[in-house]
Amino acid sequence: MDLASHVDDRSPRGIAATVARLVRGGDLRPGDRLPTVRHLAADLGVSPATVSGAWQALSAVGIVISRGRAGTVVLPPPASWLPPRYRDLAGGAPARLDLSTGTPDPELLPLIGPALSRVALQRPAADTGAYVTAPVVPALEVLLRDSWPFAPQRITVVDGALDAISRTLERVAGYGSRVAVEDPGFPPLFDLLDQLGLERVPVTLDRHGMRPDALERALDAGAGVVVLQPRAHNPTGVSMTSTRARELAAVLRRHDALVVEDDHSGEIASARDVTLGPLLPDRVVHVRSYSKSHGPDLRIAAVGGPASVLDGLVARRMLGPGWTSRLLQHVLVDLLTDSSAIEAVAHARRVYHARRRALRDALAGHGIAIDPGDGINVWLPVHDERTALVRLEAAGIRVAPGTPFSADGGTTSSNESTDAAGGPADPTQRAHVRVTVGLVGSEVEDVARALALAAAE
Ligand SMILES: Cc1ncc(COP(=O)(O)O)c(C=O)c1O
Repeated sequence: MDLASHVDDRSPRGIAATVARLVRGGDLRPGDRLPTVRHLAADLGVSPATVSGAWQALSAVGIVISRGRAGTVVLPPPASWLPPRYRDLAGGAPARLDLSTGTPDPELLPLIGPALSRVALQRPAADTGAYVTAPVVPALEVLLRDSWPFAPQRITVVDGALDAISRTLERVAGYGSRVAVEDPGFPPLFDLLDQLGLERVPVTLDRHGMRPDALERALDAGAGVVVLQPRAHNPTGVSMTSTRARELAAVLRRHDALVVEDDHSGEIASARDVTLGPLLPDRVVHVRSYSKSHGPDLRIAAVGGPASVLDGLVARRMLGPGWTSRLLQHVLVDLLTDSSAIEAVAHARRVYHARRRALRDALAGHGIAIDPGDGINVWLPVHDERTALVRLEAAGIRVAPGTPFSADGGTTSSNESTDAAGGPADPTQRAHVRVTVGLVGSEVEDVARALALAAAE
């Protein structure tokens, strides 16, 4: 197509608007390549910087993507069923190696087939269909209570950690309430808070978890709920130490806030299952997901905490999904008790640990130091987020952009940030990308080289 002939306003804005109109009208289709900056600039008689400004504007709103030497390409429209930050994470072109997902390596999940057939043989169908019996199958409740890091008044099973957090927040935080969250933190949590009309109060982290001084400021600012990840924090890999747990509990005792602990990595984390539960009786809701250890498609998380929160949560769910598939609960019971499944999860934990170390060592060889951390993600500091993404894409690697992880609601890859709870800017708040290192096997040297190049100025 002769793009220049459609442009009547030759400013960057005018050129971008023309392209956007052509995409909307279907004249330019997903996958179509835009002319090169030099060509279009010559055709229009403007400077290359003008066209480049237009391409940047289009790229910022997700209409096109720059693929380095392969040119600038029209993207498919965003999936409108995804919440905004999920959309940011999911956008972009497919890649040879997708390290953007934050999901476990399917090869490292325990085998579900044998568990399914054992359950099918052992469980009468009638057991799985009752509306008004307890939503947790008794054998699972016993296993959960035995392995829970404290003695909760109530324990139940829901459809994933985010279901647990969502339903807890709906019970305890009315519209406009303030919620302290980690910065950086889990983007869908921020989308959830926006959706519920809750105000984020960002709390910065150091190598041991939430900073007590930053938490104190968030609570002083009126946060009535604190959501934190006790270990293998997504995206930074940080885990809370027991000393830090005591420090945070001391701060929390001076305030009247509920803590929601999102142990999203569960059994694949190498760090201990640390909790504020025993330190703050009846004020901690602890969530353990089985997505990373046993498979995201089981859709099972357990949630334990005070009756005042959990009873209402269960009652509300009775008017929605009712309960989490008892069939799948039985599968989880099987996987938690079968020796080869137990060994598979332990093996996964060791492999993830080894993969983190391997990437950390390989990056060190390129002069990049990252904290050891835990879990399946690495939070890689980069000079510029967008440049890093483009360079990695040219190498066939996709990682997650860092911006959606910012609790400040930042939408640019700025290298600067301030602590919204009033503290000084934290050095860990520079531009970053998130790399799901849990998916990096034998190609670690290649990945490290590409990451080092991507991170550079
Ligand atoms: C921090 C955090 N919380 C919650 C979740 C969602 O877990 P689930 O699959 O149990 O809903 C994830 C998934 O990656 C996560 O990283």
